Amino acid sequence: MSNEFKECVKETVKVIQQEVYIKDEVLQKIVGLFLSIKEGRFLGKKPPRGILFYGPPGTGKTLLMKTLAKKVGLSEPIMIRGPEIISQYYGKSESRLRQIFTLAKERAEEENLAIIFIDELDSLASRRDLTKGELESRLVGQLLSLMDGLEKEITKGHVAVIGSTNRPDVLDPALRRPGRFDLEIEFDPPSVDERKEIIKIILNNYANGRYSNINFDEIAEQTIGFTGADMLQLVNESLLQVVIEGRDYMTHNDLMSAKNSVKPSALREFNLAKPKDRTNEIENKDIVNNLSQIANEFYTSPYFKPILLSQPLPLPDKIASTIAYLVNDRLNCPYLVVSATCFRSRWFGEMERSIRLLFEKIKYLQPCVVYIKNIDAIADPADEHLRGAILELLEHLIELNDNNAKVLLLCSATGGVDSQVKIYLREL
Ligand SMILES: Nc1ncnc2c1ncn2[C@@H]1O[C@H](COP(=O)(O)OP(=O)(O)O)[C@@H](O)[C@H]1O
Ligand SMILES: [Mg+2]
Repeated sequence: MSNEFKECVKETVKVIQQEVYIKDEVLQKIVGLFLSIKEGRFLGKKPPRGILFYGPPGTGKTLLMKTLAKKVGLSEPIMIRGPEIISQYYGKSESRLRQIFTLAKERAEEENLAIIFIDELDSLASRRDLTKGELESRLVGQLLSLMDGLEKEITKGHVAVIGSTNRPDVLDPALRRPGRFDLEIEFDPPSVDERKEIIKIILNNYANGRYSNINFDEIAEQTIGFTGADMLQLVNESLLQVVIEGRDYMTHNDLMSAKNSVKPSALREFNLAKPKDRTNEIENKDIVNNLSQIANEFYTSPYFKPILLSQPLPLPDKIASTIAYLVNDRLNCPYLVVSATCFRSRWFGEMERSIRLLFEKIKYLQPCVVYIKNIDAIADPADEHLRGAILELLEHLIELNDNNAKVLLLCSATGGVDSQVKIYLREL
């Protein structure tokens, strides 16, 4: 790769990251690929034909699709929305697909590269054995033959097809064979550092940069489980507050108070975190020794192990992450992080329902390490509104205990915890 080309890729990645924050490595790969094809520098004979963007909703798949074509210097992107092509062109869906591919071939000849984006690919290409609809089944067939056909029909240039989906599991397996969607790119829920970048981008693009004194680190730390789309909702809620109060700038407090009314989608999905070894951040060596023992006990014979971490924050975060890391090292199991403050809700019954959903997920995920941060937010005995939540929580603790579920449950609390709940939690 010439240095000039490398620079161009880096530059383009930066420009894209001003609109949608995706990891450097991922963007470099895609941008490098497209730029090299466009400039006729691609070395291999056959550049990848199909690329699959997959990951939970709200992680920027659609936004990246929209941004990519523009930023690598292609004309207007050719975009198909899965659900639209099924409903809007009903009866003409297949011919519409063929038209789009023809258009792309013409473009490819002129510009060396044309990209077809198929958003929500699963809606038109789900497994033929699962869909009852004859139309969907025909569409998969049509799409496959169009993609295969590109091979022979194109004499000059390249057509790449990018599909996006939240549900890669329901895609027709034929789509994922070599020569079809064989380059897969995963979109993870953002990490704390990524959330910091995303909130900045969104503030600059949606709030016109009119904000002051925002502590981005704190916002990022306080938004566990938020996707990019949740961050957008957070900013929108705050903007509303700004308008109501007749101000023309947003503050840190606007974001912090809006946080209570935005429910992170990761609670609907799984909020899986990557545990890190944070031993060197823990000063008390007795605690450190204890951690390896707990981890050791759990990975040698996983059984229900509920632990209360009542140290002041952020120590419990470090402890939980380290234990999960040690367990993960031996027993490849998920680490679920949930902040119980997200369960606080004004709606009657809503808290109980969220708690139930969480434990359903835990049961499904086991063996796993779960960290419920600030469990006092749903188990504070002094708060009358929490009676239902406490009962719900107890019921699940009892169930996990009775079934000896393979769950290492870590809970942090800075305030009081209901005494019955406490019976089920061992202090570290
Ligand atoms: N990684 C990200 N960087 C910046 N903004 C994001 C990101 N992910 C999501 N968003 C915000 O959320 C909105 C919805 O995301 P979208 O691209 O539709 O998600 P998906 O297609 O993965 O479901 C975007 O328009 C953007 O404002
Ligand atoms: Mg989308």
